[in-house]
Amino acid sequence: MSRFLFPRWSNALLPFILIVGATAPLYAVLIVAYGFSPKTLDGQYAPIQPVPYSHALHVGKLGLDCRYCHNTVETTSHAAVPPTQTCMNCHTQIHRESPKLAKVRESYETGMPIEWIKVHKLGDYAYFNHSAHVTRGVGCVECHGRVDQMEVVQRAVPLSMGWCLECHRNAEDHVRPPAEVFNLSKPTSDWTKDERLGLIRKYDIHPSENCSTCHR
Ligand code: HEC
Ligand code: HEC
Ligand code: HEC
Ligand code: HEC
Ligand code: HEC
Repeated sequence: MSRFLFPRWSNALLPFILIVGATAPLYAVLIVAYGFSPKTLDGQYAPIQPVPYSHALHVGKLGLDCRYCHNTVETTSHAAVPPTQTCMNCHTQIHRESPKLAKVRESYETGMPIEWIKVHKLGDYAYFNHSAHVTRGVGCVECHGRVDQMEVVQRAVPLSMGWCLECHRNAEDHVRPPAEVFNLSKPTSDWTKDERLGLIRKYDIHPSENCSTCHR
């Protein structure tokens, strides 16, 4: 009985087969890396900022309220990033010589704003309004995670349409008393379903799924 043998010329293919076999895992890793990179999945994106400003220190340890810096978040669509003056309220006194604050002092002297890199950015074709959410009891933590524990702000959520809609369809799982919106350490599950349904009724909260709500 003769066994099947690969023809002799196929030996020439062997190195090639080995290379493909050896690089397949790398290939898979690259696909995963690119396929799930910040630009596609958006989660976890955490750019290095020009100044090593830490929310973990200023919010988590020093206890500053979000509104001390993001003071338009309850009244307008955008949550303003603070001007250099806000930093200098303290840093004309504290860590006056720190090299970590060199760019802050420079900005203060020249009047040129610090070029913070945006972490969250929707396409221009999608409309989003902070005040509409914040005043209806949607906490910062729902959309930004535990910023008070972040040394560097990172995206905690995908910011995709599916993500927006998940909450709009199940808003009763995501609301809290408006006074607790800035309290990042309390998860929404700290309020019972009945309490949350009570809020939905009290404030007549019915987020829309109509395309024209978010695409204008
Ligand atoms: C002392 C000022 C200060 C306070 C207080 C503060 N922030 Fe910030 N925040 C900043 C600065 C400066 C930036 C831009 C640099 C960066 O991303 O770290 C920023 C960026 C952010 C971003 C990312 C914005 C983007 O680019 O998409 C989020 C989200 C955010 N802050 C949420 C919060 C929340 C929530 C609180 C309250 C729990 C808070 N911040 C309190 C100064 C502050
Ligand atoms: C309410 C006062 C206050 C404000 C406003 C404030 N900071 Fe601070 N910041 C502090 C204090 C206090 C420390 C030092 C904490 C320590 O050393 O334990 C600090 C530390 C820092 C450090 C680290 C300095 C070093 O050498 O370790 C940086 C960087 C910094 N702040 C940036 C900023 C920026 C940027 C802003 C404006 C967006 C800002 N701070 C606004 C109080 C403030
Ligand atoms: C319902 C989700 C949601 C909630 C709640 C929310 N944000 Fe945001 N935030 C976003 C989205 C989406 C963006 C990107 C907006 C864009 O690109 O137009 C953003 C962007 C930001 C920015 C960058 C500046 C801007 O407006 O684009 C800051 C700062 C910020 N948020 C702070 C806060 C703070 C502070 C709170 C709580 C008071 C908060 N956010 C609550 C979804 C949310
Ligand atoms: C965690 C919950 C939650 C998430 C996530 C969320 N929303 Fe909302 N949204 C709400 C609630 C609650 C309201 C208020 C509904 C009401 O007033 O009846 C609302 C209202 C709105 C409105 C109508 C108010 C206005 O501004 O005209 C728009 C538009 C909107 N959301 C867009 C978005 C977009 C875009 C996203 C994703 C980037 C998003 N939302 C993510 C809960 C959420
Ligand atoms: C609650 C807000 C909201 C509603 C309602 C909504 N969209 Fe979107 N849509 C978004 C957001 C946010 C994005 C992603 C924006 C980005 O990637 O920056 C998006 C993206 C898209 C895109 C781009 C392709 C993609 O998937 O990224 C299309 C097309 C689209 N929406 C169509 C629709 C249609 C059609 C409807 C109605 C059936 C609708 N949207 C309803 C918020 C919404």
